Amino acid sequence: MNEYVSPETKFRTSQLEDNDGPGHNPTANRTMGEVIAARFSRRGFLKGSLAVSAIAATVSPIALITADNARAASGSVFSFDEVEAGIDDKHHVAAGYDADILLRWGDPIFADAPEFDPANQTPEAQAKQFGYNNDYVGYIPLDGSSEHGLLVVNHEYTNEHLMFPGIVTISEGEIKVSDADQKRVDIEMAAHGGSIVEIRKEGGKWQVVKDGELNRRITATTEMQLSGPVAGHDRVKTNADATGTKVFGTINNCAGGVTPWGTYILAEENFHGYFAGELPADHPEAANYERVGVPDGTYQWANFYDRFDVSKEPNEPNRFGWIVEVDVQDPNSVPKKRTALGRFKHEGAESIVAPDGRVVFYLGDDERFDYVYKFVTAGKFNPDDRAANMDLLDEGTLYVAKFADDGSFEWLPLVHGQGPLTAENGFASQADILIETRRAGDLLEATKMDRPEDIQPNGANGKVYVLLTNNTKRKAEQVDAANPRFESAFGHIIELAEDGGDFAATKGKWEILLKCGDPSVAEVGASFSTATTANGWFGMPDNCAVDSAGRLWVSTDGNGPKATGRTDGLWAVDTEGEARATSKLFFRVPIGAEMCGPLFTPDDQTAFVAVQHPADGGEDWEGFGRPSYYEDLSTRWPDFKDDMPVRPSVVAITKQGGGKIGV
Ligand code: FEO
Ligand code: CA
Ligand code: CA
Ligand code: CA
Repeated sequence: MNEYVSPETKFRTSQLEDNDGPGHNPTANRTMGEVIAARFSRRGFLKGSLAVSAIAATVSPIALITADNARAASGSVFSFDEVEAGIDDKHHVAAGYDADILLRWGDPIFADAPEFDPANQTPEAQAKQFGYNNDYVGYIPLDGSSEHGLLVVNHEYTNEHLMFPGIVTISEGEIKVSDADQKRVDIEMAAHGGSIVEIRKEGGKWQVVKDGELNRRITATTEMQLSGPVAGHDRVKTNADATGTKVFGTINNCAGGVTPWGTYILAEENFHGYFAGELPADHPEAANYERVGVPDGTYQWANFYDRFDVSKEPNEPNRFGWIVEVDVQDPNSVPKKRTALGRFKHEGAESIVAPDGRVVFYLGDDERFDYVYKFVTAGKFNPDDRAANMDLLDEGTLYVAKFADDGSFEWLPLVHGQGPLTAENGFASQADILIETRRAGDLLEATKMDRPEDIQPNGANGKVYVLLTNNTKRKAEQVDAANPRFESAFGHIIELAEDGGDFAATKGKWEILLKCGDPSVAEVGASFSTATTANGWFGMPDNCAVDSAGRLWVSTDGNGPKATGRTDGLWAVDTEGEARATSKLFFRVPIGAEMCGPLFTPDDQTAFVAVQHPADGGEDWEGFGRPSYYEDLSTRWPDFKDDMPVRPSVVAITKQGGGKIGV
C-alpha cells in the first residue's frame, strides 16, 4: 500500500505549497493564502448563502450592493441573473438556461464501443470510450455549422481513487491506495489523451453521433511523429526509436486550441509526473530534467513500461512537453508533436491570424516563476487551401515575454546564435533551445510570472488576456509590476495590447485587468469593480474564452471550501468602459471539481464547459467532512446513482427557448 497522494493533489501541492523549485520559500511564515483560509474557516463560510450574507453583513460596502443594483450600475455587456456562489454536490447555471450533460467519462464514442461498466473496466473498453478528466474543449464546425461539428476534448490525467473500485483503504483518516497492476495502468493510459467526437444539435439539444466517421480516441499509446527542428536529434533517440521521430502517446493534455485551419491542438503540461527511476547526477540531461522536475514518479507507469524509467530510457522525457497537432479530418492521421513551439509545461495554444497572414500562437508555461511565450509562423495562413497550412507549425519564431514596470512589454526571440543563445552557453543548435526552452528564457531574463495558464487573443478588440492562476511562493522582494502581489493566493489577469494592434508585433503595452480574490478583504488587494457582487468575485483564473462578440468568460481552478468558500465556476468578466473588471457568476461546478473548457459555438448559442475531477476532495467541506473515494464519494455527479461513480463530464449550456448566451 502506498501513502496515498492523488496525482492532481501532488501536482497542486508541488505548484502551491512545497515545491523546492526556484520559488521555494524556506521560512515557516504563514502565506497570505493561509491567513485568508483561516478567516474563511472562522466565518463558517461553508454554509452557502447564509455565509455569503454573513460576509456581506460583516465587512464589505461592495458586497452590500445587491445583485440587481450592481447590474444596473455596471453598464455590463452581460445580461443574466447571477448564480449564487457556494458549495454543494451539484452544478448550477443561471436561471433560464439548461446545462445538459453531453459526454461523461466512459461514454461509448464508437458504434462498437461497449457500455460503461465501471466495476469491470478494461483498457480495450476505455480506448473506445470518452476519457477521464476532460480539460480543453474545442469545437470544429462541420459545413460551417454551429449545430453540427466535432467536439475535441483533452483528457488531462487520471484520479485512481475516484476511478477504480476496491483499491482504497482509510487509515487514520487518510486515503491509502493499493499498488497498480498492469491492467490498471493500461486503463489509465487509455483514459489519457483526447477525444474527437461528432455532435449534432437536434430540437435544441446536443447529441453525440456515436457512429461519426471522424470520431477518434487519442491516448498515451497513440503513435505520433516528432516534427520540426528537434525531429531526429540525438537527444530524442531511444532504444525503441533510433530515428528520434516516432513517439508513442501524449500525456497530461491540459488546455489546447483549434487552429485557423481546423486542426486540434493538445498541450502537454505536467509530463514530469509520469517518469520515475534515477538518472545519474553527471548525466548530460540532469540539469535539463531538474528544471522541469523529472523524474517525479507520481504515476506507476514505469513499473510496467521501461520508457517511463529514466534509468532505462534517459531520453524519453525529451519526447514530452510539446504541442501536439491532430488533423481531425483524417481519423488515421499521425498526430505531430510540433517542436518549433518549444518544450515546457504547456498550458494551451490559442491562436489568431495577424494582419499579414502569419499565425500567432500564445503559450503559457504553468509553473511558478515561469514564462509567457508566443510563436509566430514563418508562413502565412491560406484560407482557401487547407493542405497548404498543414505544416505551418514547423517553421517560425518562438518568443518569450519580458514585462517592464512602465507598462510596456517586449517579445524576445528564442533564436540560436542571438544574444546568449549560443554554443558557449550549451545551445549547439535551435534544437537545444527548443528542448531546454526554459533555460533559454532564463538567459534572456524573461519575466518570471505567477503561473501562466490560458492566454487568449481577442480578435474583436485586439487585446490578449493572460491568466495567471496564483503564486504563493513569490516573496515581497520578488514583486514586480506585472506580478504585483507577494504570496499571491488568488492570481490575476493581464491584458496585452500588441503594437499597432498587430498580434505578430514584437512589443506592446500591458495593464492589469483584474487582481482576483475577495474584494471585501482588504489584505487580499483584489480589484474587481465595485459593481461586482459577493457572488461575482473569484480566485485562481485558469482558462478563458472570448465569444464571437469579444466578451470574456473566465473559468477557475482552485476555489473551494478553504480557499474561497465557493466552488470553481464560469464567470463573465466585463473588459470595456465603466463596467471593466465587473464579474458575474454564470455556472458553478460540484464539490471537488475544477472548471475547464470553456468554449462558445460560433453563433454564441451554446457554451461547452468541462467539469474536471468532481468529488476529488470533501474533507474540508462540512457537507461531507471526510476523504472522498470510489466507494464513498462527496458527489456522484452527474448520474447520482449508487452503482455509478462520479464522472468528469462535458456540459452543454443553452438558453431555454434559444438565443445567444448572456445576452
Ligand atoms: Fe492543467 Fe495549468 O492547468
Ligand atoms: Ca489549466
Ligand atoms: Ca481558451
Ligand atoms: Ca490549473
